[in-house]
Amino acid sequence: MKQLTLRQQTICLALPKVDILADVGCDHGYVGAYALTNALARQVLFCDISEPSLNKARVLCQKLQLLDRAQFYCMDGLQDVRSDCAVIAGMGGLEIISVLSKAKHLPAKLVLQPMRNQKDVRQWLVGNGYGIVSDKMFYDGKFYDLITADVNSGERSLTIEQLTFGLNNVSCYNADFLWYADKEIKKCKQILSRCAIPALMEYTDMLVATTQRLKEEHNAARIIGIPKD
Ligand SMILES: C[S@@+](CC[C@H](N)C(=O)[O-])C[C@H]1O[C@@H](n2cnc3c(N)ncnc32)[C@H](O)[C@@H]1O
Repeated sequence: MKQLTLRQQTICLALPKVDILADVGCDHGYVGAYALTNALARQVLFCDISEPSLNKARVLCQKLQLLDRAQFYCMDGLQDVRSDCAVIAGMGGLEIISVLSKAKHLPAKLVLQPMRNQKDVRQWLVGNGYGIVSDKMFYDGKFYDLITADVNSGERSLTIEQLTFGLNNVSCYNADFLWYADKEIKKCKQILSRCAIPALMEYTDMLVATTQRLKEEHNAARIIGIPKD
């Protein structure tokens, strides 16, 4: 298999070990194939709305001799397939919500990498019986969020700060998140210098307060020698 990008590796490393994994919007199928070759799933259901995309996954599985443990579904979302975990990566957050809302059988575990509308995804998860197990930003040429959720564990009642920026990003030092936040603050301040938008002012103030707190906590931990996260 080709060398995975950092984004793909980060998604793969978040996969739990399960019996049946659904790779929804699988495209080339790298994530599902990783799960099969690394014994993270007995069986992978490769799903994609596009037949040419799904075919890439089929060809990859053939090349890697994984066809006996793979099933292929050309369809919108999960429909009525059953799985223990679904990975849905590289799609917009609203599309992810639509896939999950229409699923007949929701998997107990989810690994999600929404491209936008991350707050909506977090809200949907906690409003639909999932706990957020981890939610962390990372950089691979762009800033990405990786959210893992579980019906049996994780955080179910999120503060507005956690909902907006992600559970782990606001609880411990994450250099990628702070880099993103600094850029975002500059962008927001530029807009606010031209026109006052109350919601944007509130968002910017929250981001400034969050980053300040994270930096102060990090510096304090360094001074008294507490190991960094
Ligand atoms: C950008 S690719 C992401 C591929 C892979 N998941 C990754 O993260 O590297 C998005 C894929 O999702 C598929 N897709 C978009 N909406 C979908 C839906 N509702 N159901 C299934 N597949 C969908 C597209 O056809 C495309 O192959």
